Amino acid sequence: MAELEGLEFGKSDFVLLDEVTMEQFMENLKLRFEKGRIYTYIGEVVVSVNPYRQMDIYGKDTIDAYRGRELYENPPHLYAVSDAAYKAMKRRAKDTCIVISGESGAGKTEASKYIMQYIAAITNPSQRAEVESVKNVLLKSNCVLEAFGNAKTNRNDNSSRFGKYMDINFNFNGDPTGGHINNYLLEKSRVVQQQGGERNFHSFYQLLRGGSDEMLNSLHLQNDPAFYTYTKEGAAATTSNNDRSSHKAVMSALEVIGFSTEEISSIFKILASILLLGNMQFECDGENVQILGVEAVSHISELTATDPDSVSKSLLYRTVATGGGEVIEKGHTEQDACFGRDAFAKALYDRLFGWIVSRINSIIEVKDYNPVLHGKNTVIGVLDIYGFEIFDNNSFEQFCINYCNEKLQQLFIELILQQEQNEYQREGVTWQHIDYFNNQIIVDLVEQQHKGIISILDEACLTVGKVTDTVCLDSMDTKLAQHPHYTSRKLCPTDKSMDFKKHFRIRHYAGDVTYSVEGFLDKNKDLLFQDFKRLMYNSANPVLKEMWPDGQLSITEVTKRPLTAATMFKNSIVALVDKLGCKEPYYVRCIKPNEMKSPVLFDDARCQHQVAYLGLLENVMVRRAGFAYRQPYARFLQRYKMTCEYTWPNHLMATDREAVEAIVTQHGFQDDVAYGHTKLFVRTPRSLFTLEQERAALIPILVLFLQKVWRGALARMRCRRMRAIYAIMGCYKRYKVKAHFWEVERRFANVRTMGDYGKSVEWPMAPAALSQFHNITVMLHRRWWARQIVKNIPPSDMLEVRAKVAALTTLSGERKDWGFSRAWERDYLANVRDCPQTSTGFVRASKELKNKDEYSQVLFSGFCRKVNRFNKSTDRGLLITDKYVYKLEPKKQYKVLKRLPLDSFIGLSVTTGVDQMVALHTSSQDDVLLCLQQGELCHNQDRVGELVGSLVDHFTRIRKVQFPVKVCRSALQLHMRGKLKSVTVETKPGQNQADFKKSRDGFVLLVPAN
Ligand SMILES: Nc1ncnc2c1ncn2[C@@H]1O[C@H](COP(=O)(O)OP(=O)(O)OP(=O)(O)O)[C@@H](O)[C@H]1O
Ligand SMILES: [Mg+2]
Repeated sequence: MAELEGLEFGKSDFVLLDEVTMEQFMENLKLRFEKGRIYTYIGEVVVSVNPYRQMDIYGKDTIDAYRGRELYENPPHLYAVSDAAYKAMKRRAKDTCIVISGESGAGKTEASKYIMQYIAAITNPSQRAEVESVKNVLLKSNCVLEAFGNAKTNRNDNSSRFGKYMDINFNFNGDPTGGHINNYLLEKSRVVQQQGGERNFHSFYQLLRGGSDEMLNSLHLQNDPAFYTYTKEGAAATTSNNDRSSHKAVMSALEVIGFSTEEISSIFKILASILLLGNMQFECDGENVQILGVEAVSHISELTATDPDSVSKSLLYRTVATGGGEVIEKGHTEQDACFGRDAFAKALYDRLFGWIVSRINSIIEVKDYNPVLHGKNTVIGVLDIYGFEIFDNNSFEQFCINYCNEKLQQLFIELILQQEQNEYQREGVTWQHIDYFNNQIIVDLVEQQHKGIISILDEACLTVGKVTDTVCLDSMDTKLAQHPHYTSRKLCPTDKSMDFKKHFRIRHYAGDVTYSVEGFLDKNKDLLFQDFKRLMYNSANPVLKEMWPDGQLSITEVTKRPLTAATMFKNSIVALVDKLGCKEPYYVRCIKPNEMKSPVLFDDARCQHQVAYLGLLENVMVRRAGFAYRQPYARFLQRYKMTCEYTWPNHLMATDREAVEAIVTQHGFQDDVAYGHTKLFVRTPRSLFTLEQERAALIPILVLFLQKVWRGALARMRCRRMRAIYAIMGCYKRYKVKAHFWEVERRFANVRTMGDYGKSVEWPMAPAALSQFHNITVMLHRRWWARQIVKNIPPSDMLEVRAKVAALTTLSGERKDWGFSRAWERDYLANVRDCPQTSTGFVRASKELKNKDEYSQVLFSGFCRKVNRFNKSTDRGLLITDKYVYKLEPKKQYKVLKRLPLDSFIGLSVTTGVDQMVALHTSSQDDVLLCLQQGELCHNQDRVGELVGSLVDHFTRIRKVQFPVKVCRSALQLHMRGKLKSVTVETKPGQNQADFKKSRDGFVLLVPAN
């Protein structure tokens, strides 16, 4: 039972009708047709109504929706049965078949194409090339078969004029590996004659209208169907298909399938020969019959690669073997010649068609199949056979076609009933017989040995002498007079709708059909003069030769009568039915809504007629006879468990069957159901509807409930996830911090014992959260490290270290060299190594000074070049103590020339260069400008840094006052006696000692060039 369709579209399964009456059935069918629902189920049978318009229900989305789904999961569709057949084939390794029936124009061929498309779409997901090519050939073969086997009839623009049963072979993977097409009875009489308004086979018009000029020229054809006797009738008829574009499609399909160029050209040569044959006329000059116009003969002989004389001979004479084994040639009458010509044309076409089918088969047949290697080779068969048809004039072909439909109906009845019965048996449910019309009696009427119509026809054909169609009719009237499904004018003289000696009528399951017996015998004999067969067999064209293997028999050999057309057809249909009988069948029952090909018209009477003869109502009844509805317990439970408190949401009973019983009992349906071994059977759809309605009412509540629960679940899930995220983040952060600590700890563990106290240890990258901590620890380590360094410095060196630190802070980065790497001796004038000659004198003098001025510490002493009051430069000794700055005369026992209190100095200026110039600024703006000189200790020593460091350290640390130091890049500024002076430094070649020289705005310090 299908879901997902509202009741406004009617019932998607006829078994759910309240009452199985024709009215209700038709009402539902019509409603669904009008609402654009062309498919409806009867259980597993699909009833399809031809929509006569393009429907948007075959696309990829739809295919996806049906793929792998169960029948009841989606609205009824061809795809659903296709999938069911495919699943049965794949899951249970069953051979299946899809039988499509219905009258001409009901949509069988279209349905078969959609089925093929579906199967092609859902298979070979891995796109294996060989499987793709099989699928391609299978799909393309439709186009070719339709061109050669379909024609416009008064009932259908694209009517199949042959029966087609296509087997598709699958490997264990469920991918198509090949196929086989069986064709049944092509209506070849159409080649030479069509009913008013009908056309010959499409292939002729496609060639004439679509073939290039060059092609038509080579075939000796004109591009006008009206020019040819065989296509004249249908020349003006329009069809929905464009012949020209179809021609192209067929050409490309032939190529894709694998026809060689030679084969393709042979096909068209045969078509051309047939058309030329059709225009051939004969005249009798009193004695002999002649062909009118010799051109045609030469063209035909050229096209068929035969000898022109043989062509005209086979058209005008027939070779007969006399009783004595002699062979004589017997000239045709004009009538015989025409008959022979038409028979030849028909046979040419028939054999061409048969050859095309066999050629396609040879291409798609399963090759290299090894059951051990490839597993079971399963098959899905698709049967698209001509539908039951009634024309104004029904001849032998209609008789065969309608007989075929009787056989298929018979199979349908057998299989459907059999299936039902098997199911009840399997499930252990008692089954009650239902009456249905069994058409076996009609089948017998046609095919029964000795008594059946086919036997009577064959007998008439075998009888030597002039047996006419009328004689045959007489014979049927005699033998079948008592048959309830047979009648004729003779048996029912009052029925004026039949003519004496012409008509007989069969009451088919699908309706009464009046056949005209005219031509029956000829068509049944299907006579073709042997000469034509030989002619074709002797063709130089191998393709043509291959089509006529029976032409190789010599005339004297051909004694055995071939089987008649009707018998051959019967045999092929019996074989077909046997073939279908052993497969799991799926049915598509097509209905034609009207005769006008209208998408909107639902002709009630026409449809009702079809419903009746297709036995659809009986089908519904049979389906419902016992039980309209059945479902495995688990599935039933799944669907209806919400309607019962004991089963919702889950039951606690031992088996699903008990749970189902609980649902049934709660609703009071006990008397309406039967319990099978695995399935529940429900007798009336009412019960099911009650359940459905209850379910429908509960669904919104359940949906809300589920939404509520699910939303809650979602929110909780989200919340849990967020928490987890935060927990993870927290852990990770902690880990990062810890990891940093561990790393720092690891790297710095041994710094105490390291020579450089960990100065060379690289700090690990700190996580962002620890950046402040990192800075602090780096600082901490630095301080500790400094402490370790400083701790080891002896107190005597401390002064020097402090001075160096002070110099570093003021000069580092400013002045190139400030002598930090050497030992600072501080008191150079007292240093024996620096001043070997004068140091003793200075020591003596400084002692006196110390006693006198009571200074406690020498900050710096050394020689210098100094600018004096008169802007002259002289050599002096400079002594800076913690109280005074002394200017000493070295030449006079270091006599004090000038003594300035240290606190009168407020800062100093130096340059960035390597010169030793220092300007000591005083608060009285009478600054001291000097240039320090080296002693013996070392040449090119920088002593400026030492002087600066000592002074700055003393001022800032001891006196606790600022002592600004200016490091000048260009000229150095100072005041002398309140006047601003500027001092620049210049190198002078030849200058061996730095010396001041007066300049315009102050002084220049001239320094040696190196
Ligand atoms: N599902 C469909 N969608 C659209 N059009 C359809 C459909 N089925 C049938 N038709 C239309 O109906 C026409 C006849 O259908 P189709 O040829 O399948 O009939 P048939 O049953 O095979 O007849 P016959 O027995 O004469 O071969 C198609 O050419 C097409 O125009
Ligand atoms: Mg068809």
